[in-house]
Amino acid sequence: MMIGEALNRVDGPLKVAGQATYAYEQWAADQPLYGFIAGATIGKGRITRIDTSLAERSPGVRMVMTHRNAPAQGTPDLSTAWEYWRAYPALSGPDVNHYGEPVAFVVATTFEQARAAANLVQVDYTQESGHYDITAHRDQAYAPEAVNAGLQTDTAVGDFDTAFSTAAVRVDQRYTTPYELSQPMEPHACLVVPSGADLTVYVSCQIVDSARSSIASTLQLDEQRIHIVTPYTGGGFGSKLRVHHETILAALAARALGQPIKVALTRQQIFHLVGLRPTSDQRVRLGAERDGRLVAIAHEVTMNTSPLKEYAEQTAATTRSLYAAPNRLTRHRLIPLDLPRGEDVRAPGEAPGMLAVESAMDELADALGMDPVELRIRNEPEYDPERDVPFSDRHTIDCLREGARRFGWEHRPTKPASRRDGRWLVGYGMSAAIRGHFQMPTRMRVRLTPEGTAVVQSDMTDIGTGTYTILTQVAADALGLPPDRVRVELGISEYPVSSGSGGSWGSGNTSTAVHRACAVLREKLLAEACTDAHSPLHGLDPAEAVFSDGNVRIGRASEALREIVVRGHPEGVDAEGETAGMADDPNYKSYSINTYGAHFAEVGVDADTAEIRLRRMLGVFSVGRVLNAKTARSQLIGGMIWGLSAALDEDAVVDTRSGAFVTRDLANYLVPVHADVPEIDAVMLEGYDEKANVLGAKGVGELGICGSGAAVANAVFNATGIRVRDFPITLDKLLPHLPLVAT
Ligand code: MOS
Repeated sequence: MMIGEALNRVDGPLKVAGQATYAYEQWAADQPLYGFIAGATIGKGRITRIDTSLAERSPGVRMVMTHRNAPAQGTPDLSTAWEYWRAYPALSGPDVNHYGEPVAFVVATTFEQARAAANLVQVDYTQESGHYDITAHRDQAYAPEAVNAGLQTDTAVGDFDTAFSTAAVRVDQRYTTPYELSQPMEPHACLVVPSGADLTVYVSCQIVDSARSSIASTLQLDEQRIHIVTPYTGGGFGSKLRVHHETILAALAARALGQPIKVALTRQQIFHLVGLRPTSDQRVRLGAERDGRLVAIAHEVTMNTSPLKEYAEQTAATTRSLYAAPNRLTRHRLIPLDLPRGEDVRAPGEAPGMLAVESAMDELADALGMDPVELRIRNEPEYDPERDVPFSDRHTIDCLREGARRFGWEHRPTKPASRRDGRWLVGYGMSAAIRGHFQMPTRMRVRLTPEGTAVVQSDMTDIGTGTYTILTQVAADALGLPPDRVRVELGISEYPVSSGSGGSWGSGNTSTAVHRACAVLREKLLAEACTDAHSPLHGLDPAEAVFSDGNVRIGRASEALREIVVRGHPEGVDAEGETAGMADDPNYKSYSINTYGAHFAEVGVDADTAEIRLRRMLGVFSVGRVLNAKTARSQLIGGMIWGLSAALDEDAVVDTRSGAFVTRDLANYLVPVHADVPEIDAVMLEGYDEKANVLGAKGVGELGICGSGAAVANAVFNATGIRVRDFPITLDKLLPHLPLVAT
């Protein structure tokens, strides 16, 4: 059984040898030109004069594109359901909508020439007073029609106000989270190669089909004229669900000049040119009986959005399925600010939302004097508490108990600020985790060659998550082939259209579709062999067949799979498999399908300096069936570190005078490094969710983020007795409250 094994990445040797070719490393027959974006240096206003003469005379410059000479472009078609497929015009007018928005695009022989010339573009503006400070514009909050992924803006069950006001124990707190950004290791980059009416676009992206549609509709071209090639993507985290200005501008310039063009964003540019996670202000109210049973839950969220394009993270959405309580309320409100658009950033909404709610649960446990693990177990729902449907396969309690046992939760300091280890105040914290399981339409092709190799083909991407490897395992398992007889070819727009990678849906969708394609091939080839007088399987019952080691066996008779292929299909044979989207899968209406987990963290806080160090961290997860124990664990650990990062590090700071992000590199926008994560483990419970798909497998990547930050924050409280609700928890927020004690 290949599925589930900790198979090493099949693309690993190529990657460590530098032979996995990423977008910016691709090469064309003609030497490419290089493009560089010049960004607006104001946050809101209008270009009144733009002088490109100096830039145009600069060495190596071939083109300077501004709103005055940019080609006409398509505008977003709002009837296209998903934003990422819509047009994304650039340089389309003199208005400046946010700091860093492109005002010119310079193309030159080298990157350095393009960048130097971009600095010589002279722009005069009339400035308008933009809105950059969410706290100053509370009066402009409005309710969107729906939040991200089409989820409901508000929900209400029972009578929250009455139940909360009469509850025996109440928590009513505000939590704030900062702007955050995806910063994938590979920056957003592309090489666009024109040939005749066609464009070949090597682009770092998560969804090939959205890249193709967005480029085609912006350039007003037939989609068939756009060829996307994305064999490898170096991380996306939501920021590559769509292409951004760099790709659109490269495509426009490549067509205008008839030459290949390369563009990569600099690390600094990523802070203004891709979508951000909105800042949030969350009020969480919990009302409980003295025994810990919740009677009322409310989660109300206010975030920023952009007047250019509304975006509402589903920050309170997971709260709807997390705990039982008869009286409930969730609400999302938006305040327009003149900042870059909001877009999906890994675990959109779930990450900041669970940080707040799972901190509030810790506050409730503290108020009740109750073990926070027991508090969660006491509030485990039997049905989805807002949808009134059963859960498909919920194992939160198993995760909580297994995690508590493995972590040694019984050794925790039950009283905050009660344990010392030298100069360190030591604390334990925990949190529950839940995340919805998404499913998108996907087609995959599997081809059996006359050599006996299975070739999996799709426009699916591997963004570092292990897609090549799990699809190898699924095809090998279904066809009874050793993994080295399976080749996976991804990221080509001419192959069948998949969901792409995002929302943790990639593995479930694509593995199911590959499994189904293989089933079609098995059935077809078996029927042929069993009815063919030349086959040793002739006349035998296909229902008894076993595919293994490259052979098909029925009882004692056996034939090589390759032989069957060659006899009937000298050129090879292929089949497609597909998955439906959530809207067309009845299980999504009849069941609440999620993944679950529990996080545990131990931190030390320096009693004098308030330095916070993670000491160890453990997550236990229930994700249905695991497709690859190694890649799934890596995804979960990466997610848990993202939670640590949200609790202690990440904070994109906006200058509220200009709308510019001032933490514009990874020296100022902090993320954890290896030394910040001394000991971490992720454990997956055995499982199989038959309502999710035929393989019983659900996505794992974003689940690791959900709640993990709260486990760290709750550990900081347990260590110090200080509750910081304004994330991230930095030293300056703890230090004034630390008791002065001699060490
Ligand atoms: Mo997902 S927000 O595409 O990492």
